[in-house]
Amino acid sequence: MAGIYVHIPFCKKRCSYCDFHFSTTFSSYREKLIAAICSELVIRKSELHYALVETVYFGGGTPSLLTKEELAAIMSTIREHFELADSPEITFEVNPDDATTENLADWKALGINRLSIGLQSFQETDLSWMNRSHSTQQGQTAVRLAQVMGFDNISIDLIYGLPELSNDQWVSHLNQALNLNVQHISSYCLTIEPKTALNDFVAKGKLTRPTEDQQSEQFELLVSTLALAGFEQYEISNFAKDQKYAKHNSAYWNFSPYLGVGPSAHSFNGQQRRWNVANNTKYYQHVGKNQDWFEVEILSESEKWNEYFLTGLRTKWGILKKNIQEMGGMSSSELTLMDSYVKSEWMIEADASFVLTEKGKLQADGIASSFFRVD
Ligand SMILES: C[S@@+](CC[C@H](N)C(=O)[O-])C[C@H]1O[C@@H](n2cnc3c(N)ncnc32)[C@H](O)[C@@H]1O
Ligand code: SF4
Repeated sequence: MAGIYVHIPFCKKRCSYCDFHFSTTFSSYREKLIAAICSELVIRKSELHYALVETVYFGGGTPSLLTKEELAAIMSTIREHFELADSPEITFEVNPDDATTENLADWKALGINRLSIGLQSFQETDLSWMNRSHSTQQGQTAVRLAQVMGFDNISIDLIYGLPELSNDQWVSHLNQALNLNVQHISSYCLTIEPKTALNDFVAKGKLTRPTEDQQSEQFELLVSTLALAGFEQYEISNFAKDQKYAKHNSAYWNFSPYLGVGPSAHSFNGQQRRWNVANNTKYYQHVGKNQDWFEVEILSESEKWNEYFLTGLRTKWGILKKNIQEMGGMSSSELTLMDSYVKSEWMIEADASFVLTEKGKLQADGIASSFFRVD
């Protein structure tokens, strides 16, 4: 089993908080860039020669800015050069203002069967300082239109821990999200990244950084409100109804291999991580011609161990004893540490795994890092 990630590095506007890789001035080279993504898929197809591709994920940037022809070109390259499973999960990240009836029909016709729609907030003032390209109304209309057009696996993204967002307002955002009847919600706490406009707003006192306590309270409200509505928290920041887990992202968290194409995309094959250059021009000019468009890092045994704890502990499946054994087992001091987490109810020991408790989930990264090894 394997997945393919396609990074589409274009956006209409620069959101004030975002430090993902994208460009807002791409019209002169978009054709070359799409051609380069298709070439990369062909050049690297042998990396997944052994595996059935069960998931394809278009992320960004803004995949919903692709024209029908561009998406068709990428999809047909994937279908022609990879062995796709019978009913693969094919996810498309969508900005609400792109979700027109015509686009939704095209995406469906081209095989997209899961949408991840970036609503972010239900408050107009938030969308304004965020510099989003849509209104709250457009966000809700996008979801409803997608449902009318037959999409039955829809995820929405919401951000909490926003400047000036009260707990009551956050609960109101969650209730409005629940009213939309979606299958999946991803919700991350706002991070204030260096070199973003948001960082500047906060430095100049135009917006106030929320306290850690406010962020934790909103995280707890997120978990309890969604649990009451029947959503399962299967990963710290991801919630699903009726087991509609994001299969693609779950594979990342379970350490399965994936091939990432496009500028800045990461790949993992079980032994090594590879990442493409985060520069659109350099990417399309160099793909397939030399080695200047990617870097490779072979993971040491300690790095594999650390990553397994970091990602595994964030999921409801936890870390599997079988996998720990395969990596050589825990040392006596690690066993003592694990025992102390179980005794203080941060962790539960099941027959085949160790899983964080609700209390433990609040400290997931700290607990994982206490098991980190160095070479
Ligand atoms: C990079 S965007 C790509 C999808 C699409 N362009 C969008 O904006 O919805 C993916 C998600 O990352 C999250 N994100 C990006 N920057 C973030 C930040 N600084 N803090 C928290 N979440 C962030 C947002 O929730 C966003 O929906
Ligand atoms: S649209 Fe998405 S990827 Fe683009 S800048 Fe905004 S958050 Fe980042």
